[in-house]
Amino acid sequence: MQITKNLKKTTYVFKSVTNSLETARALSYWRENGLRKIDLEFKDGSKIAALPLGAAWTVISYYYWSHKLNSYDTQDLKDLSNIALYIYNRIEETYDKWPKGGWGMQGTHGILYALIRHFKPNHLIETGIAHGYSATVMLSAMKKNQVGKLTSVDNSKVIKFFGKEDRIGWLVPEDLRSDWDIRIGLTKDVLPELNIDFDAFYHDSDHSEQNMLFEFEWANEHLQRNGLMISDDIDLNHAWHIFNSKHRNYRQIIKSATTGASIKE
Ligand SMILES: C[S@@+](CC[C@H](N)C(=O)[O-])C[C@H]1O[C@@H](n2cnc3c(N)ncnc32)[C@H](O)[C@@H]1O
Repeated sequence: MQITKNLKKTTYVFKSVTNSLETARALSYWRENGLRKIDLEFKDGSKIAALPLGAAWTVISYYYWSHKLNSYDTQDLKDLSNIALYIYNRIEETYDKWPKGGWGMQGTHGILYALIRHFKPNHLIETGIAHGYSATVMLSAMKKNQVGKLTSVDNSKVIKFFGKEDRIGWLVPEDLRSDWDIRIGLTKDVLPELNIDFDAFYHDSDHSEQNMLFEFEWANEHLQRNGLMISDDIDLNHAWHIFNSKHRNYRQIIKSATTGASIKE
């Protein structure tokens, strides 16, 4: 499974940038030192200099998947790079050195940017906030769309990380917060209480198969027609496959190494 995942990721790199060998080699170190910077030269001629490794993953993922969706936009590539740079600057300011571990910006954030710019949802429900990478990316795309609100659920008000404690979603800039509603509690308690019309759902909370299936089934009950069902970490268990096989009215439009997106028809 790990080999397939790495092969898929390498494919995204080779299909997106011309300096693919050095980029793929550098990206394999993203857990070791996410603040290490690389230059990217995209196949359409766009060049982005000095991007931290995680940010580079995000931007390459945007490039690859927005082409698949036929919605690639050079200015969006630049805007997403600037959002990622803002995030990494805040990480550098907050932590003295790179907090090693499996975190940082990832491919899923580029997919979210591509999906939101393309489908322009009116209201998206997200489960799992943590530092707020995904919330920052999605709210930025919504601001650019001039439409869209985000409701995010997390069971914790704070995030404790590498000796620091911050409010949940601390990365989200103040000017994006007017379109953001945070609900605190377990998704099994909070989701059934929500009374919101929504046309997009993004799972990124507890990745147990049972919880993922609960969230997908709940979202399916309420998601509008032509709405988007999105999930991160679909490679961790069978929940995404089970859900999509059971509900044949969902058309899968993205299946990356870790992230899936389907449209409800
Ligand atoms: C992977 S992180 C979310 C990352 C975030 N979406 C991003 O990309 O920046 C998972 C978050 O889900 C929260 N969480 C875990 N289980 C949960 C549950 N059952 N209900 C609500 N939140 C949960 C954790 O507190 C954690 O902040």
